[in-house]
Amino acid sequence: MDIGQFTLANNVFAAPMAGVTDRPFRRLCRTLGAGYAVSEMVTSRPDLWASLKTSRRANHEGESAPIAVQIAGTEASMMAEAALYNIERGAQIIDINMGCPAKKVCNKWAGSALMQDEALALSIVQAVVAACEPHGVPVTLKMRTGWCQARRNAVSLARAFESAGVRMLAVHGRTREQGYGGDAEYDTIAAVKAAVGVPVVANGDITTPEKAREVLRATRADAVMIGRAAQGRPWIFREIAHFLATGTHLAPPLVAEVRRLLLDHLQDHYSLYGEGAGVRSARKHIGWYVKSLPGGEAFRARMNLIEDCAAQWAAVGDFFDALGAGTDRIPVAAATPPGTAQVHTTFDREVASQ
Ligand SMILES: Cc1cc2nc3c(=O)[nH]c(=O)nc-3n(C[C@H](O)[C@H](O)[C@H](O)COP(=O)(O)O)c2cc1C
Repeated sequence: MDIGQFTLANNVFAAPMAGVTDRPFRRLCRTLGAGYAVSEMVTSRPDLWASLKTSRRANHEGESAPIAVQIAGTEASMMAEAALYNIERGAQIIDINMGCPAKKVCNKWAGSALMQDEALALSIVQAVVAACEPHGVPVTLKMRTGWCQARRNAVSLARAFESAGVRMLAVHGRTREQGYGGDAEYDTIAAVKAAVGVPVVANGDITTPEKAREVLRATRADAVMIGRAAQGRPWIFREIAHFLATGTHLAPPLVAEVRRLLLDHLQDHYSLYGEGAGVRSARKHIGWYVKSLPGGEAFRARMNLIEDCAAQWAAVGDFFDALGAGTDRIPVAAATPPGTAQVHTTFDREVASQ
């Protein structure tokens, strides 16, 4: 599948998740089979660009092409400037966030809230496309099915966005009003796919290879995008890609492999965040990895008390050594995706700190 001039390795993508899909995690997802991974959203507010958080998000050292950066905001000219700012820092694709359910981003209605103001949404897309086009940078967009059940306007917006020059559309099968409640629906995604010529990516509640195949068949979408099910389970991308290609399942990963990739993930994480922030922000990732493993809950509680990176890293190594003494492969139960309650907390905290 292509986005503009970029041909992607496969059609199983990592969804942008603020506070989760940072550079180390994206790199891991790509290594483990994701054909594409979009950055966490970067604010369009210039006064925040110098902040540590935004400058970390705009740092793409060592990332492989195409480097895709998602921008969030409410004003067309600021969004255009944000696109240029990120292009200067290495972005090769700019993704517009109309999918985030938070009430406010940058103190104004943004993300999926933009879907209720079609004229504003379109003016943002036009401004960002105009800014990106001279640089040969394709613009993509991620949205929900609509603002609320009665106003599911994804199809009309998709047509307008395509005419304005958007090169790929990702659709999360929930309205903004739904947040993360209920089940994602795929009929609207199918309708969007039927209405436009650009590639369409289906997103929402895809947690297994079978579900990915079912959603692709039902929507005729060009790709699937996986968010929460990849937390602590980044090998899900190769599992889905393998199943889509062959119809057969890969064995669960070896404990020794997960040990190695988590320890490598942590090294990469510490080098981006440094000692204090590194040890704290790594806890959620470690928690997701060990959550469903035997002894995982107790380990998580103990690990949360560790305050330095070296000790945290060593404790993780010891946990997996002990696990590996009893079993070769990660137990299948550990494949259970994280619950929604946990998701809300992570997401709300993240958005509140924007
Ligand atoms: C913690 C968290 C952070 C998220 N941050 C973003 C974001 O920055 N931009 C965005 O477009 N969507 C964001 N999302 C939405 C996801 O990209 C995705 O649409 C949603 O989780 C549904 O897919 P899933 O069921 O595979 O998780 C976030 C979701 C979560 C759980």
